[in-house]
Amino acid sequence: MLKEDFYAMKKSGAPITMVTVYDVAFARMAEAAEIEMLLVGDSAANVMLGMERTAGISMEAMCLFTTAVKRGAPNSYIISDMPFGSDSEPKIALQNATRLIEAGASAVKIEGLPLSSLRAIREKGIDLVGHLGLLPQTATSFKQVGKSEEEAEKIFEQAKVLDSLEPCAIVLEHIPEELGKKVSQATNAPTIGIGAGSHTDGQVLVMHDILKMHPFKLPPFAKSFANFWDAGVNAFCDYRSWVNKKKI
Ligand code: KIV
Repeated sequence: MLKEDFYAMKKSGAPITMVTVYDVAFARMAEAAEIEMLLVGDSAANVMLGMERTAGISMEAMCLFTTAVKRGAPNSYIISDMPFGSDSEPKIALQNATRLIEAGASAVKIEGLPLSSLRAIREKGIDLVGHLGLLPQTATSFKQVGKSEEEAEKIFEQAKVLDSLEPCAIVLEHIPEELGKKVSQATNAPTIGIGAGSHTDGQVLVMHDILKMHPFKLPPFAKSFANFWDAGVNAFCDYRSWVNKKKI
């Protein structure tokens, strides 16, 4: 798919599904499921590397995960997160965005509004995904943002600036439903929500939550559609029993 296809989906009211993936096997599954956008999120820091914060992940790691996803889903639209600090100034941002594209990404996603870096990337014709609302790389709390009129207005204005750069999508994270609706109505670019209500043009979830791959409580806005944790633990137990029986 191309950026134009996502804009056309928004226009026609067809919802867009985005899912995070980080490796070959799950990228292959997501492509088989015809998911429209695969996100190599910097949430890899948490779910793949066990780090506390997404800010801990490096460019090298993001390139490696992107390469793996491209191998598993060669025909999919792959978006890779620019890790914390990688977009600090335009020249560096452009170099890092180019590395992710060379690793297999179709577009790069940047948190917040580092305007000169965003412009440098777009000027070179690289597809961009914005990310507003809760910004995990720099957040000091993981509470909903945009509740006050002032905060909501700031996010709304940021979305309009981002929209003028013609991104292929804008991710809206953990904001009030009404604000998600208002932004989605005001932008040409498709909005993809995570904890932003049901009026965004699409939704994104972390695959470890969708598949319930961990024993932890899900974030309030996440939803599981399978239980890989139970299935995995049971399979490992069955395998262990099989090995034990063989030895007897
Ligand atoms: O890194 C990530 O997984 C993300 C999504 C939560 C949107 O940015």
